[in-house]
Amino acid sequence: MYVVTGATGHTGNVVAKALLTKGEQVRVIGRSAERLKTLVAQGAEPFAADLTDATSATKAFVGAKAVYVMMPPNIASPDFRVFQNHVTDAIVSALQNAGTTHVVTLSSIGADKPEKTGPVVGLHHLEQQLNKISNLNVLHLRAGYFMENTLAQIGIIRGAGMTVGPLRPDLKLPMIATADIGEAAANALLNLDFGQKQTRELLGQRDISMTEVAQIIGSAIGKPDLRYTQAPDEQVRPALIQLGMSANVANLLLEMSAALNSGHMRALEPRSAQNTTPTSYETFVREGFLPLYEGKSAA
Ligand SMILES: NC(=O)c1ccc[n+]([C@@H]2O[C@H](COP(=O)([O-])OP(=O)(O)OC[C@H]3O[C@@H](n4cnc5c(N)ncnc54)[C@H](OP(=O)(O)O)[C@@H]3O)[C@@H](O)[C@H]2O)c1
Repeated sequence: MYVVTGATGHTGNVVAKALLTKGEQVRVIGRSAERLKTLVAQGAEPFAADLTDATSATKAFVGAKAVYVMMPPNIASPDFRVFQNHVTDAIVSALQNAGTTHVVTLSSIGADKPEKTGPVVGLHHLEQQLNKISNLNVLHLRAGYFMENTLAQIGIIRGAGMTVGPLRPDLKLPMIATADIGEAAANALLNLDFGQKQTRELLGQRDISMTEVAQIIGSAIGKPDLRYTQAPDEQVRPALIQLGMSANVANLLLEMSAALNSGHMRALEPRSAQNTTPTSYETFVREGFLPLYEGKSAA
């Protein structure tokens, strides 16, 4: 039996479905049994647990052949690093108490760095703490920048007629569709082709800049002149807060953007067949961005 945390989220949902499709037994974790119902209809066992609670996380992990571990976001948290540390502590206790032997984590490029990468510092800490568990085989999947992050541009295009963000326009980023991360994680869980403590980067189909992102979106939505503008932190911060982020989370995201812009946070592996994943940004725009932009799918 596999345990999948964040099973209602971008990556966990794909992991759970891929394992179910292979006929595997899957226990799916989220905070609400109601939200897990769709997966239950596909054969999953639901388990409502908050990942800040070591006792319920332990119960959730007992009996697992392997666990998919994802650090949940908490955009309203007044101190997100403290929240991340609570989750890490609970997960470490739960894995030890449950005697789990195999874990695949969702980490990020930049998780090699102990500081100045915003929320990714919490993923660095998660990696480090899991690496201290003897007898645990753990694979940290260090994913690139999510293509889904660019969905935030929908409202900006509607409101301002352009795309805007804190990243340098020319910065080539390894952008990845979360579905590709889910597939890669499911394959690692099925094959258990890792041992001891390992990291593996997932870099998407190719590196792509925000200038190219704007061009690809522009041609898909019939606005071929759509441009990208880099905005200063003073302008981005209030916009992030208006989206529901605490000032702390907004500042961490700006720190991460600065780390990407400076190259402090970057992929370490040369691109290869193993760390390249299939979904292009063009495909993501057609299948993920456009339906939302055209209002055909719930945001
Ligand atoms: N954005 C990027 O570019 C990027 C790049 C690399 C790595 N990452 C990392 O990716 C992770 C997010 O992964 P994702 O996109 O797959 O997740 P997601 O779509 O944001 O979903 C979060 C999941 O966590 C669950 N959840 C939230 N709070 C919880 C809690 N307290 N206890 C238990 N479950 C909880 C949610 O389920 P319910 O709401 O149903 O409880 C949901 O299933 C983050 O750690 C982020 O740092 C992001």
